[in-house]
Amino acid sequence: MAQDVLIFGPETIQEVLVNATRALGQAMEYHEARLQAELLLAHTLGVSRAMVLAKLDESIGRDVAAQYAANVARRAKHEPLAYILGHQEFYGLDFLVDRRVLIPRHETEMLALLALQRMQRVPHGSPVVVDVGTGSGALALTLAHHLPNAEVLATEVSPDALAVAEMNAKRLNLTGRVRLLLGDLLEPVQTNFDILVANLPYIPSARFVELADEIRRFEPRVALDGGLDGLSPMRSLLGQLESHAASGGTAFLEISEEQGPAAVELAERQIPHAEVILHHDLEGLARVVEIRLNNRPRVVDLRSSHVVTAFGLTDEDGLPAGCC
Ligand SMILES: C[S@@+](CC[C@H](N)C(=O)[O-])C[C@H]1O[C@@H](n2cnc3c(N)ncnc32)[C@H](O)[C@@H]1O
Repeated sequence: MAQDVLIFGPETIQEVLVNATRALGQAMEYHEARLQAELLLAHTLGVSRAMVLAKLDESIGRDVAAQYAANVARRAKHEPLAYILGHQEFYGLDFLVDRRVLIPRHETEMLALLALQRMQRVPHGSPVVVDVGTGSGALALTLAHHLPNAEVLATEVSPDALAVAEMNAKRLNLTGRVRLLLGDLLEPVQTNFDILVANLPYIPSARFVELADEIRRFEPRVALDGGLDGLSPMRSLLGQLESHAASGGTAFLEISEEQGPAAVELAERQIPHAEVILHHDLEGLARVVEIRLNNRPRVVDLRSSHVVTAFGLTDEDGLPAGCC
């Protein structure tokens, strides 16, 4: 609808909710519109949603009504709910977000889960964890929270985004645990990683215009645009992985659902002796490429022309038996 001015009078909470739901309902289903109307009112009043629902018969003052109308109008004009509320939940933690950063997505939680599972299966006393393109800091701070002995580094090319990640680090009491580094991909990182996670931009440039208004008009283009085929940032990162990985280092890279085969082929071509695994989400969509670097000294057996590792047999994780 894109109504510039919404006016809610001094009415009861129930009445303003009905009006707001109607305004939002032009762009979404009724139940979604009602839920968002309630969340926006709770935000405007500075109370919980449960408190709003407990006071439906109470009236709200003119000032609050005006502020609420302004918030509902922003949402009706497709501004994402998380930017208006100012925060977004990710893997059980609450992150401040605004237009300087991509809103952390539910599907990205799979990267955090896979990295934590890997640490459980291949324990490491004090792993080095790197998050490339940290945005709000969602992945880096989540991993720091769950891996108290890890040294966590996060890189980001946008100074604006890094400022948001810094706010989140403070808010989550993780400032001393995570080093936030401004720069391109792994360039600012001097330490070799045991675990790397990266949710880099992966939308092909030509498809940027096809994105929903909510994303295209509000979220930073630098967080979305992945170049000609959407894989440019991944291609550059793959070129840096081996020189930055500790022995047995593993990288988890988020991709879009249709990029699975191309991303696997790219990884196998750029790092021929790595083990590459494609992970699917619960809906069966390709979501994450795992790259186990196996970057150990190699010995060429000239008789058989086979490349064998200097450590011989590996366990099921592609690591030398007894390693790490
Ligand atoms: C898709 S967003 C992901 C943000 C966050 N990791 C998340 O999952 O919510 C990609 C992020 O990578 C950053 N970025 C893009 N190109 C980069 C590069 N070459 N080096 C470092 N960061 C980059 C963007 O600024 C953006 O914050």
